[in-house]
Amino acid sequence: MSKVAIIGAGNVGATTVYYIAEKNLADVVMVDVVEGLPQSKALDYLHAGPQRRYGVEIVGSNDYSAIEGADVVIMTAGMPRKPGMDRMDLLKTNVGIAKAAAQAVAKYAPDSVVLAVANPLDVIAMVMLRETGFPPQRVCGMAGVLDTSRFTYFIADALGIWPGDVNAVVLGGHGDSMVPIPEYTSVGGFQITELLDARTIEKLVDRTRNGGGEIVNLMKTGGAFYAPGASAAQMTEAIIRDDKKILPASAYLQGEYGYNGLFLGVPILLGGGGVEKIIEIELTGEEKEALRLSAEGVLAGVKNLDSLEQAG
Ligand code: NAI
Ligand code: 2OP
Repeated sequence: MSKVAIIGAGNVGATTVYYIAEKNLADVVMVDVVEGLPQSKALDYLHAGPQRRYGVEIVGSNDYSAIEGADVVIMTAGMPRKPGMDRMDLLKTNVGIAKAAAQAVAKYAPDSVVLAVANPLDVIAMVMLRETGFPPQRVCGMAGVLDTSRFTYFIADALGIWPGDVNAVVLGGHGDSMVPIPEYTSVGGFQITELLDARTIEKLVDRTRNGGGEIVNLMKTGGAFYAPGASAAQMTEAIIRDDKKILPASAYLQGEYGYNGLFLGVPILLGGGGVEKIIEIELTGEEKEALRLSAEGVLAGVKNLDSLEQAG
């Protein structure tokens, strides 16, 4: 049985465990700094196993050594947003948490594929890459699957159809300037530009960009976790089963799309080796400009990260 380590047993981390267990996908260990929290959630999940018919091992720990030998590490530890906050406002706190976690991953799970989830996502992915010293193929970030899932839901809702018929694409950084791509988004084989007028599509694109913020504003104490947990579990499944699925994810670009040395949401081929390929699609001038603006936001975050490192 494969082993998945989830760092952070809060809302996103614990929800990811739910989806992994329900699929009998892998044994899971949750690590959190709060004493008793990961242990209590692990026990609660085990109690549900006889009814839900899963038999995976679920362990909670406050000690990073518990992640030893993990095949996939999902990094969810960190503060979520509160109303009025931008994902970048979390940078200082969450970078510190990610650094310590990444060092533990390098020590205890040196062959793992790392899936960053904590925000600001594209910057945290960079911290995980730098601090683990892993090759870029073994570090990626979860955001595109979530953003695409939101876009898919909004399109299906607007058309009154089953979401399974929608194939949507969202690129760019995981921020309010992410780039949903209507030209590559289809329903039952037809481009959505044939099925919905431009004004309606623009509204759905806007709602997708603000999808996380809409939930933060309603919840007030934190952010979304059911859809993020499902998205992290979907990516984990692609890695563990070596599915070689094409999914949007935050990947380390080395020249692709004209960017070098930063994480940005692009279509990737995800399999047992992690990011096995970055897929370059043709973008319109407008989409390239939207991607540039989104990349600027990520670059600003990386600059903040570099200043923090210099300040010691
Ligand atoms: P949460 O507050 O429910 O859970 C965070 C957990 O991290 C807490 O249990 C806390 O004790 C733990 N933690 C803090 N420091 C730690 C450390 N050093 N080692 C281990 N655990 C530690 O927050 P939630 O809702 O689970 O969100 C987690 C992060 O994921 C946030 O940064 C949030 O913004 C981000 N997020 C990212 C998404 C994406 O699409 N990439 C989607 C949703 C959330
Ligand atoms: C989300 O998009 C807050 O990044 C988180 O739900």
